[in-house]
Amino acid sequence: MKPDVLVVGRQMPHVQAALKPAYTLHTLTDGADLQASLPEAAPRIRGIITTTGARAPLIDALPALEIISSFGVGTDSVDVAHAKSRGIVVCNTPDVLDDDVANLAIVLLLSVTRKLVAYDRYVREGRWVKEGAPPLTRGIAGKQVGIVGFGRIGKAIAAKLSVFGCDIAYHARTPKPDTQHRYYADLVALAKDSAALIVIVPGGAATDKLIDRKVMDALGPEGVLINVARGSVVDEPAMVAALAEGRLGGAGLDVFEAEPKVPEALFAMENVVLQPHQGSATVETRRAMGDLTVANLAAHFAGKKPPATV
Ligand code: NAP
Ligand code: 8YV
Repeated sequence: MKPDVLVVGRQMPHVQAALKPAYTLHTLTDGADLQASLPEAAPRIRGIITTTGARAPLIDALPALEIISSFGVGTDSVDVAHAKSRGIVVCNTPDVLDDDVANLAIVLLLSVTRKLVAYDRYVREGRWVKEGAPPLTRGIAGKQVGIVGFGRIGKAIAAKLSVFGCDIAYHARTPKPDTQHRYYADLVALAKDSAALIVIVPGGAATDKLIDRKVMDALGPEGVLINVARGSVVDEPAMVAALAEGRLGGAGLDVFEAEPKVPEALFAMENVVLQPHQGSATVETRRAMGDLTVANLAAHFAGKKPPATV
């Protein structure tokens, strides 16, 4: 008998194709009422594959649930502790996205410091011809870049940024013995000493508004904030105010508090570069992430440990 699996959120075609022969698939219908949206097979569902998370009410509505296979490395949209308390295995997609997310962080840093988007517009609007060369920008070589979160992606960013001649320092909960980069237990001190901060910690309660007004003021009017973590990690109204008042020099943002909504005040700011949460969004990486969600399910139902458990 094929295991019953609930598909939550949209899946890529290659994922759908891999799931179809192996499982009896079910979907949630659209609706505010969870009970009414559940398939008739809910009592038999043994696995969830999800691109949008899995909260406690859904988990509790599935008494036979054994595994949640979630798309993405961040698990802030899954009630992990709750699932684990019921003995449910939670899986994610780490490692395969490190390279592309790290690349986007660096692209954002260079785009802000070299005014890439603003000066592209300057050329297209014919201002180069009319007004001549625009003001000089800032380089990053020899400057300290502070990385907030020194896990898989944070370390990938550090390795890539070293090639640009940056001096790397970092903040995490604990210092890492496997790196020579400078550790700061104090985030405000890291911000004060750095030309830019790159934020790449998990979302959730423990990191909520970790980047607050104090951190941004320490980064200062020449400082650049790059957020490729989660919108919740930065105090967004405080950031908008700091940028508007010139207390913060610039920002490169891939993530926001209420995606896909972005504070409109940011749209007119030339020192800000905005992206639609696309750190991992290359064909290659998204394919690998999809493959890993399938592999996690397959290993579990073959009686093996999934390759990526949380
Ligand atoms: P990871 O390997 O688990 O690393 C997380 C790092 O954050 C660790 O160094 C950890 O410190 C640190 N950290 C956790 N809680 C902290 C806290 N309260 N204060 C300070 N530091 C804290 O995770 P990863 O694979 O690098 O991914 C990190 C996050 O990036 C994901 O969870 C996700 O939210 C985000 N992400 C975004 C995109 C995107 O598209 N923009 C793509 C992928 C991931 P310790 O090492 O001391 O425990
Ligand atoms: C995905 C991400 O875009 O892996 C993560 O944590 O933020 C991104 O890779 C997201 O999870 C897709 O829903």
